[in-house]
Amino acid sequence: MKAKETDRRAVIVGASSGIGLEVARLLLAEGWLLGVAARREERLLALKAEAPERVEVMTIDITSPDADQRLQTLIQRLGGMNLYFHASGIGKQNRMLEPDIELHTVETNALGFTRMVGTAYRYFAAQREGGILAAITSIAGTKGLGPAPSYSATKALQATYLEALEQQAHQRGLPIHIIDIRPGFVDTALLNDDFPYPMLMRPEAVARDIVRSIHRRRHVRIIDGRYRILTFFWRLIPRCLWRRWKL
Ligand SMILES: NC(=O)c1ccc[n+]([C@@H]2O[C@H](COP(=O)([O-])OP(=O)(O)OC[C@H]3O[C@@H](n4cnc5c(N)ncnc54)[C@H](OP(=O)(O)O)[C@@H]3O)[C@@H](O)[C@H]2O)c1
Repeated sequence: MKAKETDRRAVIVGASSGIGLEVARLLLAEGWLLGVAARREERLLALKAEAPERVEVMTIDITSPDADQRLQTLIQRLGGMNLYFHASGIGKQNRMLEPDIELHTVETNALGFTRMVGTAYRYFAAQREGGILAAITSIAGTKGLGPAPSYSATKALQATYLEALEQQAHQRGLPIHIIDIRPGFVDTALLNDDFPYPMLMRPEAVARDIVRSIHRRRHVRIIDGRYRILTFFWRLIPRCLWRRWKL
């Protein structure tokens, strides 16, 4: 992407580990100025140490009501924002429907997501030049998954929310480009439960695909090709068969 330095200001929420961290590193290598946020400050500071003059750090817990204000402060400190990338999220298998897990997942992936994405969208709506709003949802949102009900339901919420924002931006004539990133299984701390996940991808490879998708202004990107085929077919499976499917 050829752009002036003022067009290359990105905020990444969820940059302290996994996919968000790898995307942050790739954008730094391209010369972007970054505002990075998450709860674990020491990890954000370690990322800042890689390019101290180009990284602003802010601790944000997206489940907290002050997260909106903290994100606005981070954008201000960065001198503006052209790209908002939402990578924060949690997910666990929860076959026993442990209430704490179910509810905390909703707080983070549904409430926290809506809070942060809303702040970024309103910011872009108020700027003449708009911006790019990209978020990692998941292929898990394309079907109700018995082993992780809250996770798959909140990922479906995120995808539907982004689709709604895309339509709204278009109809209001706002120059906001929305990108829904849907990876399959990625080898990060999110999958640290010893379950033998098939078709596991490296976060570095997924991050490269995400950055390319941002440059190419994709709308929905399923990563990778194997998962594009898988989700195409499993969407065709009728409910009477889906309920028998062993996951
Ligand atoms: N790994 C996969 O197989 C996979 C597949 C599809 C989609 N995804 C999605 O990709 C995204 C990134 O996950 P990952 O795999 O990279 O896992 P990860 O390494 O665990 O990263 C999760 C990120 O979310 C942040 N986060 C969690 N709760 C937060 C909160 N309350 N406030 C602010 N930040 C919070 C974490 O930072 P702190 O803990 O420092 O706050 C961390 O930076 C998630 O939305 C996940 O659902 C992952």
